Amino acid sequence: MEILANSKKRGDLEIVLLYDKKLPKNLTKAEKEALEIRNYKGEGSCFVESSRKFFVGVESHNYPFPNALRDALASAVGVIGKLKVKSASLQVKTKQEAREVCEGIMLGAYCFDTFKTKKNENNLKEVYLHTTQFAQTDLESIIKDSKILSESVNAIRELINTPPMIATPKYVADFAQRIAKDSGLECKVYDEKFLKSEKMGAFLAVAKASANKPYLVHLSYKPKGAKGKKLPKVVLVGKGLTYDSGGLSLKPGEFMTTMKSDKSGACAVLGILESVAKLGLKAEVHGILGLAENMIGGDAYKPDDILIARNQKSIEVRNTDAEGRLVLADCLSFASDLNPDVLIDLATLTGACVVALGDYSTGIMGYNQKLKEDFAKAAFEAGELSGILPFNPYLRKLFNSEVADLCNIPSSRYGSAISAGMFLGEFVKESLVQKWLHLDIAGPAYVEKAWGVNPFGASGAGIRAVVQFITNLAK
Ligand code: BES
Ligand code: ZN
Ligand code: ZN
Repeated sequence: MEILANSKKRGDLEIVLLYDKKLPKNLTKAEKEALEIRNYKGEGSCFVESSRKFFVGVESHNYPFPNALRDALASAVGVIGKLKVKSASLQVKTKQEAREVCEGIMLGAYCFDTFKTKKNENNLKEVYLHTTQFAQTDLESIIKDSKILSESVNAIRELINTPPMIATPKYVADFAQRIAKDSGLECKVYDEKFLKSEKMGAFLAVAKASANKPYLVHLSYKPKGAKGKKLPKVVLVGKGLTYDSGGLSLKPGEFMTTMKSDKSGACAVLGILESVAKLGLKAEVHGILGLAENMIGGDAYKPDDILIARNQKSIEVRNTDAEGRLVLADCLSFASDLNPDVLIDLATLTGACVVALGDYSTGIMGYNQKLKEDFAKAAFEAGELSGILPFNPYLRKLFNSEVADLCNIPSSRYGSAISAGMFLGEFVKESLVQKWLHLDIAGPAYVEKAWGVNPFGASGAGIRAVVQFITNLAK
């Protein structure tokens, strides 16, 4: 699907946006009749063949919600794509509107049909945007930037959707190298030997029983021609469990399906670096991907094991399904050594976060209130939903162990999205805790019932929010 700034072409049909269920005043008699006979009141979409206008209702809400326009366009494109039309046009009034329209169209058009013999055809190939309210060059650059971002999101959705028999840690590491080459990123791939030399005892334990060996990927981006300038340094860490069977604390069948998506955090980090590089943002950005598979076998790590993490803290294992925090523990310690100005981890960490916030929102955690609020604002701007979950010292105590420094599961299941976040905090270098954010994307990362701009499958959660956060930081 191509979006073009072209004020001359009307295309096969014209999309007309309707806000607040208000029909436009300049309707012809025929249009009025057509809308009336279809009983159209400005909700959903309605096509008037005679004048080739496709009316799209934009829902209104009496609370802050960032996605009314994006969602409307995403569903409209689905409907139009089934008609026999190749092109459409649309008037936009503001720059924000232009951006939301682009994202709605491009994100809504993705479909994971790689393994289907019958592909999900969408006939709509070109959308022309017009504006009379701001400069054509601005419109062109909004389209260009939205395209970069949406293409990263869609490529990462495809990677996450790729079945675990194909998308092993090695596959994701190779994928990262390919993206790095294409977008001018530096990329180092470290194997198990390196993890051993770094004494990453927690990460290694999780990966032990799998035939597919673990990898740690370090991507980095520095804008060209920024010599001598002090740039903000952002380090991102992603949980990359290419499969989470639960390990010996095996997941029951119905909870194991979808666990190919347990690599969503690491994959999002990859997508963020690709976008940041292609957008040429003025920040130094690093991405650390912790890639492993949590499996069972004769040499699996066990409940009762005591692991020594990279930062020398000992961890009593009581449940091998709480593996993400073990991989992240060592990755956060590694990332701390890069001395970032902001350190952010992204992870499908807990089912409890989904219980707390629902399927649609990312849980934001950390020790710095302003940082959390700035991030929530950026996420909203980018069209991602989030909620701040507050730390407290009582929940931290639930990780105390009789036999080690920490236990990998809390002693109460209540509040366990937060306690898991506090567990991670123990592996961030002391001097950096005020610069650290934890994002639990377990809810929005994988979609089993399409919503908004997200079709069935991986959503690419976190990419747009973090790119926006870095954009704001780099201003
Ligand atoms: N990958 C899961 C978390 C998850 C659950 C992600 C549902 C997406 C959807 C994680 O590794 C896990 O299994 N967490 C356990 C922790 C528990 C054993 C303390 C959980 O949330 O139940
Ligand atoms: Zn798990
Ligand atoms: Zn997991």
